[in-house]
Amino acid sequence: MVEVRFLGHAATWIRAAGKNILIDPFLTGNPLAPLGPDEVEADLIVLTHAHGDHWGDTLKIAERTGATVVSTFEIATYAQNRGAQAWAMNIGGTYAFEGGWLKFFPAWHSSSFPDGTYGGMPMGVVVELEGKRIYHAGDTALFSDMRLIGEQGLDLALVPIGDTFTMGPDDALRALELLRPKGVVPIHYNTFPPIQQDPVAFTDRAGALGFEVFPLKPGESLALE
Ligand code: NI
Ligand code: MN
Repeated sequence: MVEVRFLGHAATWIRAAGKNILIDPFLTGNPLAPLGPDEVEADLIVLTHAHGDHWGDTLKIAERTGATVVSTFEIATYAQNRGAQAWAMNIGGTYAFEGGWLKFFPAWHSSSFPDGTYGGMPMGVVVELEGKRIYHAGDTALFSDMRLIGEQGLDLALVPIGDTFTMGPDDALRALELLRPKGVVPIHYNTFPPIQQDPVAFTDRAGALGFEVFPLKPGESLALE
């Protein structure tokens, strides 16, 4: 069983068979976060890009848990220079670990750290654990190559719907048509005033297109089995 727990904004905690994968752990300063950085476990911390609302508590969590930071060359180097273990990658690369693998895909966005340091290209990521394949789109606009990401089959897709900084609900629905996932979790909305959206309306609209949406509240989780 793979558990996918939504921690508010884009923060996602994937757990399976003793493996903890934390994606974009922005908890401190995240008004929606149900947990603090001392309440999560991590073997891997995966970062889609360097913006503060994704990089978040990476260093604090890495220091406590000994987790390996897996991301772009630029983000991995930045983390390593600040004492974290890190594994440098880039778009297109696969990282294999006991029980699964993850692979980075493009995202249309930007990526710099809160201090202005360049973070490399922004990315989305597909994580496979126990045969379940989960796509976390990161921050992105709609792009037609999402079709390639969906082609090999997705059990779950976490897609931003907030608009302003990423695609909004209209383009997220078009993204689903390309990705064709079995399940959908909307992310990156309602954290701040510029990204207010109605997840129930999105769920209804996606449902009318045949997609099953789980509008998880921060702290809620979904079991893939
Ligand atoms: Ni961003
Ligand atoms: Mn963001």
